[in-house]
Parts: sequence; C-alpha cells; structure tokens
Amino acid sequence: MTKMTWDLSEAPESKAHVQIAERYGLFIDGEFRKPQSGMYFDTTNPANGTKLSEVAEAGQADVDAAFEAADKAFAGWSALSGAERGKYIYRIARMMQEKSRELAVLESLDGGKPIRESRDIDVPLAAAHFFYYAGWADKLEYAFPNRTPRPLGVAAQIIPWNFPLLMAAWKIAPALACGNTVVIKPAETTPLTALKLAEIIREAGLPNGVVNIITGAGATGAMMTNHEVPNKLAFTGSTQVGKLIYKAALKGNKKVTLELGGKAANIIFDDAPIDAAVEGIINGIYFNQGHVCCAGSRLFVQETVYDEVIAKLKKRMDNLIVGDPMDKNTDIGAINSQGQLNTIEKYLEIGKEEGAEMYQPDCDIPSEGNWCRPTLFLNVAQSNRIAQEEIFGPVLAVQTFRTIDEVIDKANNTPYGLSAGVWTDKGSKIFQLTKALKAGVVWANTYNKFDPTSPFGGYKESGFGREGGMHGLEAYLTF
Ligand code: NAI
Ligand code: MG
Repeated sequence: MTKMTWDLSEAPESKAHVQIAERYGLFIDGEFRKPQSGMYFDTTNPANGTKLSEVAEAGQADVDAAFEAADKAFAGWSALSGAERGKYIYRIARMMQEKSRELAVLESLDGGKPIRESRDIDVPLAAAHFFYYAGWADKLEYAFPNRTPRPLGVAAQIIPWNFPLLMAAWKIAPALACGNTVVIKPAETTPLTALKLAEIIREAGLPNGVVNIITGAGATGAMMTNHEVPNKLAFTGSTQVGKLIYKAALKGNKKVTLELGGKAANIIFDDAPIDAAVEGIINGIYFNQGHVCCAGSRLFVQETVYDEVIAKLKKRMDNLIVGDPMDKNTDIGAINSQGQLNTIEKYLEIGKEEGAEMYQPDCDIPSEGNWCRPTLFLNVAQSNRIAQEEIFGPVLAVQTFRTIDEVIDKANNTPYGLSAGVWTDKGSKIFQLTKALKAGVVWANTYNKFDPTSPFGGYKESGFGREGGMHGLEAYLTF
C-alpha cells in the first residue's frame, strides 16, 4: 500500500499578542506576592525546552498565608446571596472568553498540547464550566429540595498538567457557586494559565482571598493537604498521590474527592460503523498526546472485523501530524515533560519485552523537545503490563474478543474504572454494556465528549466523587 502524505504549509498561531512575565509571584488575598520562601522554579516549553518564565515555589509560610486569606474571606463570601456570587462567576466566564486566544496560546506553549485543542476544547470548555456553575449559585435549594445546602468552608485543590486551565475551572467554579473559598495549586510544569486566571479573577473584582492560586511541586501540595484549615480536599492526578491525599483527608477529618487514573476499554463490535469507529479510536487515544485520564487506551475489536479495523487504523495513524503545538495542522503535540516521556518510553520497552508487536508510523518529529510517535501494540495479552497499567501517552494496546460476555469480562478486568467506549449499531448492546461496564462514563458511538452539565468520575482506583453537573455541587456542600 502506498503511503498517502499531506504536504501542508505551516500554519502557526501568533504568539505576539501574549504577554508572559519574566517572573510570577503567588496570588494570595487578591494580590501577587513574592514568596516568603524566596524560591522560584522554571516553567519550560516542552516543544523546544526553552524557559518561558519562572514561578514562585510556595513554602510553609506561603501556604499558611494562602489558607489564612481563604479562611478570612469565607464569612463574607458565603454570606453573599447566591445571585451575587453568580454574577462574579459569570463575569469570570465572560473574561475568559474575551481572553480566549491568549489563554489558548499560553496553554499550548506551557504544556505542549496542539493549539487546535487548546483553542477549540480546553479554553471554551473551561469558560463553559464557569457559566454553568454561575447558573447554579442561586438555585442550590432547588438542586437539593427539602434539604439545607451549606458551603463546606475552605477547599484545598490540587490539579494536574494535562488540562491545566480546564481542571482549574472544574475545581474553582463549583466551589465558588456553593459559597466556599479556595486555595488551588496547578501542576509544576503548567502553571501559566492558572496565573493568567488569577489576573482575570483580580480584574473581575472577586473579593480578596476567595480564590488563592499558589505554585509549587509535590512538596507544596503535601503542605496543602496536611494543613489544618481546609475542610475539603479535591485532587486530580495519579492514583499514587491520590492515596496519600485520601490518608491526609481521613487523618484531618476532611471531605475529599479524587479523580485519578484510568485504563479505558474502547470496544468495537462488528456491526459498528467502522470508519467512524476508527476516528473514535484515534481521538480516544491520541487526543492530547494520550495524557488523558479517560483515554481509550485499551482497544477491543471483535475478531470478525479485526483485520479491517487494524488496516484502517494504521492508515489513519500514518496521516497524523506530530510536531509544533503552535501549528494549527498539528494532531499530536509535545509530551508534557521529560519525566513523562521517560515513563512512556519505558512502557514501549516493556511492551516489546512482553512480546507484543509494536507499530509506529515513520512520521517526522522535531529534533528538539519531547516527542512520541503514535503507537499501537498488537498481540497484547490481558496480563501484559501495557494492558493493565496507565501509560498516559499516545500508546494503544489492542486485544480481540468474540462474544459480548467475553468483552465485558476483559473490559472490567482492570484496577481502574473511569470511562469506556462502545461502538455498535445496536441500541440493545449499548444498554447492556453501559450497565455491565464498571466505568463512570460510557460513551456510545463517540469518545471524549465533555459537557459541564454531565457528571464525571470513577470507580475503584480511578477515585470517587463526581465533578460536573448537579453531582459536582454536592462535593462542595454539607446538609
Ligand atoms: P502527580 O499525581 O504527581 O501530579 C498531580 C498533581 O499533584 C501536581 O499538581 C503535583 O504537584 C501534585 N502532587 C505531587 N505529589 C504530591 C503530594 N505528595 N501531595 C500533594 N500533591 C502532590 O502526577 P505526575 O507525577 O505528574 O504523573 C504521574 C502519572 O500520574 C502519570 O504518568 C499518569 O499516569 C498519572 N496522572 C494522571 C492524571 C489524571 O488526570 N488522572 C493527571 C496527571 C498524572
Ligand atoms: Mg511548562
């Protein structure tokens, strides 16, 4: 088969309109402050390794100051009417839309994701979460009839690097709508959009201390979770750190929600619309370089259509463009960090050692920066590590099945339970599978669809608690 190639001209998004400060402080009590720790660290562009800026590393005194500010602000914020709180949240949403281009460029520069994704998905969805929760702020008693919803107090929120702005929105918007105040920490490799959000929040005139945004790595995160002030811990990230946070919550008698890893099954039946399913497989695993907790990283193909699906999938993979995240043609951007690239490359070796057959298109990749070609493993066994462990990269493990019961057993045979995909022409099969699969979200004939009205969260080692929708309010209320 001759390889079809696209010879597209470069289509770079402009960076000229984006201002990045040389150095950022901590956003505490409505102002940017120098860290009392005196320490800073670099954030780089993973597509070329260049330094973008340096950000403060919050130490214990800084973490104390942030919680003190949030604690002090709580009385005033929670006493405001829901309608007043809603106005502020709505204003933040509008300002995010106004600055959407700037936010998208920052997100792609700092984290490596294709500009097309940050522009069309991350930023609009983040604003949509603020809009959605602005609408709930004055309707909490209707969401929970015959109960008296009250805010929890101060929330400590820790978010990862795969959807930096969107995860900030998932955490901040419902907390504010319910009358809580927050201290939030973005991940150390992707702090810039959260700091831009801090500027937006200041400009929106949100009362001082209602949202505090502090930067730092795991040590700062641990200071937050072990702090006595917060009544609520909210975390998205690795299962390993999630377990530490759960322990801290139990010890401190705090409410907790955990959104952790995943190893989702994407299931293709022989009666599925195959071309659409192939697009769904591509989107499921290669969206955001596979740095997606709900990525469809295990593919199950019914034996009768296996050859057709794999041939079409390889052909589609051959046409994916890997490279500059700032180019509007790019499908797969940079791997977020050298550390994550090492993890992914380790799993590529493990897959080969386990006897699976690896396929990668021979596409060009830039000479500098962190890159991984889209990868497929065939002849994978259920017990293989590449079929059991979260890789968090553009790596798909393919297995086959004959019957519906067999695929249900295989799909559920994982420590995780966050999401799944089902591709079939038969509604009855969809209903059977959505009941039988232990996954918080099951997509049917589509994949990776998100909406603020829809709750999201997992079973088993994928964590617990739901974010989004009405369910997302409950995590920030007491009755
Ligand atoms: P991580 O869980 O260490 O990082 C997530 C956040 O937790 C960051 O803000 C980090 O600073 C913070 N953190 C780290 N250690 C902490 C601690 N002891 N206490 C409190 N906060 C702490 O994830 P990492 O190391 O960047 O990635 C490792 C693996 O985790 C990935 O390969 C992937 O499998 C998984 N992961 C899953 C995510 C998801 O969305 N479910 C997101 C990020 C990573
Ligand atoms: Mg960075």
